[in-house]
Amino acid sequence: MSQTKINPEGKTVFISGSNRGIGKAIAMEMLEQGAEKVYAGARNIDSLNELKEKYGDRLIPVQLDVTDDNSIYEAASKIEDLDILVNNAGVFAMGGILSEQASSSLEKNLNVNLWGTVKLTNSVLKQLKKPGETAIVNISSVVGLANMPMASTYSVSKAAVHSLTQGMRGELVNDNVLVMGVYPGPIDTDMARDLPMEKDSPGNVAKNIVQSLIEGKEDVFPDAMSEQVGALYASSPKSVEDNFRGYV
Ligand SMILES: NC(=O)c1ccc[n+]([C@@H]2O[C@H](COP(=O)([O-])OP(=O)(O)OC[C@H]3O[C@@H](n4cnc5c(N)ncnc54)[C@H](OP(=O)(O)O)[C@@H]3O)[C@@H](O)[C@H]2O)c1
Repeated sequence: MSQTKINPEGKTVFISGSNRGIGKAIAMEMLEQGAEKVYAGARNIDSLNELKEKYGDRLIPVQLDVTDDNSIYEAASKIEDLDILVNNAGVFAMGGILSEQASSSLEKNLNVNLWGTVKLTNSVLKQLKKPGETAIVNISSVVGLANMPMASTYSVSKAAVHSLTQGMRGELVNDNVLVMGVYPGPIDTDMARDLPMEKDSPGNVAKNIVQSLIEGKEDVFPDAMSEQVGALYASSPKSVEDNFRGYV
């Protein structure tokens, strides 16, 4: 638990990849819980039309491709005031570390999931370092805690997000910034469409993230499956690895 807690009510939020899936659900939940403004990042801002229609001036579409330095710079320069950054944009490029797709999938996963998070956070860091509480929310995955061989290079990228989250927390220890790592299990979005597993809803993930900001939680397991993995990881990280090894 962190000393820093932050209620989204009246706050300004910036979310990458907010046009669909978990990012869209987070944008909606933040606004439903009283956020004053959500800067909604999307590669194609037309994909935000439905949200824009629903929330009007409180939702500000921002063109954002986290693999494009210019796009990051332009987006960050539009954001004068910021309380909560959500690094949500992500890709799931299939490939094993020892497969033919190793290099190409690793590159795709790292470019968006790791470098996108690093670059976007640094681009708005000065807005986040201010008097009062702020937060950075990084969406990792349960497979960031132990590698799942069927998505091995993706797991590597999410382990990197786990590690950078800890690093940011340390570097910001004196700055009143809650740095949250989120470790979802399978969630019912386009990304997980082909995974033959039981899935929780993006809305539930979003609700748990907002509640965890209010409570000042640093490590968040926001769905039924990840809650179990989180409990096992706390007692025996090796058991999580042993469990995931079966998913080849
Ligand atoms: N679904 C799951 O089971 C699950 C589990 C654990 C963790 N996660 C993580 O949760 C986050 C959200 O995933 P999701 O399930 O909501 O996936 P999704 O439905 O596939 O949505 C991915 C989002 O990321 C955006 N995005 C992809 N590449 C981008 C780029 N280069 N620049 C900016 N935005 C980009 C997409 O934008 P476009 O519409 O333009 O493609 C989309 O808005 C990801 O970090 C994912 O790894 C998901």
